[in-house]
Amino acid sequence: MSLYAIGDLHLHFQSELKAPGQLTSRVWKNHDALFKKNCAARVRVRDTLVLVGDHSWGRKLSECEKDLQYIMELPGRKVLLRGNHDMFWDAKKTEALNRQFEGKLFFLQNNYFPYGDYALVGTKGYTFEGPFYLNRRGQVTGWDEGEAEHAAKLVEREVERLRVSLESARNDGYQKFIMFLHYPPTNILERTSAFTDTAEEYGVEKVIYAHCHGQSRFHDSIEGTFHGAEYRLVSGDYLLWNPERILP
Ligand SMILES: [Fe+2]
Ligand SMILES: [Fe+2]
Repeated sequence: MSLYAIGDLHLHFQSELKAPGQLTSRVWKNHDALFKKNCAARVRVRDTLVLVGDHSWGRKLSECEKDLQYIMELPGRKVLLRGNHDMFWDAKKTEALNRQFEGKLFFLQNNYFPYGDYALVGTKGYTFEGPFYLNRRGQVTGWDEGEAEHAAKLVEREVERLRVSLESARNDGYQKFIMFLHYPPTNILERTSAFTDTAEEYGVEKVIYAHCHGQSRFHDSIEGTFHGAEYRLVSGDYLLWNPERILP
């Protein structure tokens, strides 16, 4: 039994929508077929595959049916996290989605997924991504204060959701946690954040995140061991569509 993770499939089987700028590079060509092949070679029926957000370009559930069908046909138990592009997944509809897809897909938000001794916990997360103002040398000299204020509110709400997830697992007796975030835990200016503090507070063993696309963004946040936890980026284009083994 193994635990795998990958993020940002950005499927669009039902959408005419052309993927925006950064998603048209070579790595995105037939990426869905390559990922399916890589899963078939690695992931077994008893394994668990966590998809770390940005599943589909569809704006509502009816526009995501083929994308979700593709995910359901992948091997293993599938756990989905909410990404910033997952418009089909209204935050208030997580329970309804879990009822609708019971036994096929598990939607992770304000709840947890049991994996052996571990509880898989998670939320979309949030990081302030600017606008940042740079000087001629490319150093940050300031940022949009209004946007930063708005971002702080979103971070607060997401941390609350994360705590609900952790507390519900803890109340059921779990002491070991793997945390999933769609957004990176810190932005380019931060050393720590409310997410890294929460991971530390609960003794989370690993923090797995995605969302960063393209060479220039892959190293925007924490990688490796930090304050006792292991941090790993699992964006699909970073992993070249190979699901990353998280456990054992
Ligand atoms: Fe993405
Ligand atoms: Fe994203």
